[in-house]
Amino acid sequence: MTPDTNGTTVKKKLLVGIVAVGMAFSLAACSGGGGGRGGDAGGSSSGDNAGALIGVAMPTKVSERWIKDGDAVKSALEDKGYKVDLEYADNKIPQQVQQISNMITKGAKVLIVASIDGGSLSDQLDSAAKAGIKVISYDRLLTGNENVDYYVSFDNYKVGVDQGTSLLTGLGLADADGKKVDGASPKTIEVFAGSSDDNNATFFFNGAMDTLKPYIEDGSLTIGSGQDQFTQAATQQWDPATAKARMQNLIASTYSGGTKLDGVLSPYDGISIGIISALEGAGYSSDALPVITGQDAEAASVKSIIEGQQYSTIYKDTRQLADQSVVMADDILNGKTPETNDDKTYDNGVKVVPTYLFQPTIVTKDNYKEVLIDSGYYTEADLK
Ligand code: BGC
Repeated sequence: MTPDTNGTTVKKKLLVGIVAVGMAFSLAACSGGGGGRGGDAGGSSSGDNAGALIGVAMPTKVSERWIKDGDAVKSALEDKGYKVDLEYADNKIPQQVQQISNMITKGAKVLIVASIDGGSLSDQLDSAAKAGIKVISYDRLLTGNENVDYYVSFDNYKVGVDQGTSLLTGLGLADADGKKVDGASPKTIEVFAGSSDDNNATFFFNGAMDTLKPYIEDGSLTIGSGQDQFTQAATQQWDPATAKARMQNLIASTYSGGTKLDGVLSPYDGISIGIISALEGAGYSSDALPVITGQDAEAASVKSIIEGQQYSTIYKDTRQLADQSVVMADDILNGKTPETNDDKTYDNGVKVVPTYLFQPTIVTKDNYKEVLIDSGYYTEADLK
């Protein structure tokens, strides 16, 4: 899985050393000549690390959210005077492995990594640690390795709770505050989960299923196909086409005989698009779709919510996440310990990674203006 053989590792180490010496010279030149833009009271990079290179690894450009993340991280780092190597890996693990190896070779001082497969970068994390490079795990937890210094994300369990709650609200089983509505008629749903190599996917699924569980237990909710396990519901690489194919199978196996499908738990807007496409392809009319959830408030899906197809999404302000990762990187490079607000939840299998978490927000047709437009995340024109 990794391109590192012993031979190349040795060569790489030598290279890292050479590049590091080169960097030290150019950094010294920078601080002498004032080229590092650092040192002011606004928190710009300063000292030995002024103008340092920071590697930013993002998983894919297929989903709009990662483009926003990458752009926001890059520009905030550049505002602080850092150089940035921003790479997207087209959802291909070997490509991401290679990109991170290159960042290490080029002498990056900090890596900010949103992984494709959280467990596939161990060799690179080890090499980074040997070269004194600190690693910030971005949104998705890097797992199975001790060389993960910080994690910045949203409260991923709460994202799942919010998805479950909005499904219940859309179905009329719970009120706007998430309280059970007495006497509501029973509903039939299907559940989808994210990619099993993404640590977030189980947090989302568990948060949602824990929220739905009392309703399943008292009979007000039924999963029509009976497929209620993460392994049955998972969607590798969060792929919309995979979700569409599974939805088509579910329609054929469970809903072709007249059983009404009232709702679908979807963990991500791209998956919701796949689900909607399968339903419309099977003859569901676009103004009478089941209640479908989502995540990321991607423009296409917010438009779908406004038009009444998708019911809800979960908004996670990627600007907050990006800014926090930059504050963390800047603190690290200035010898400060980054602030964290959760030091117990995110055990990556080897260590509990100190974490900074933000809170998600449910978005429906009722509040999208206030949440997405008033906050400047989108303009009205973006959603037309
Ligand atoms: C992110 C979600 C996103 C999903 C698919 C997850 O790791 O937390 O925001 O919807 O990946 O890209």
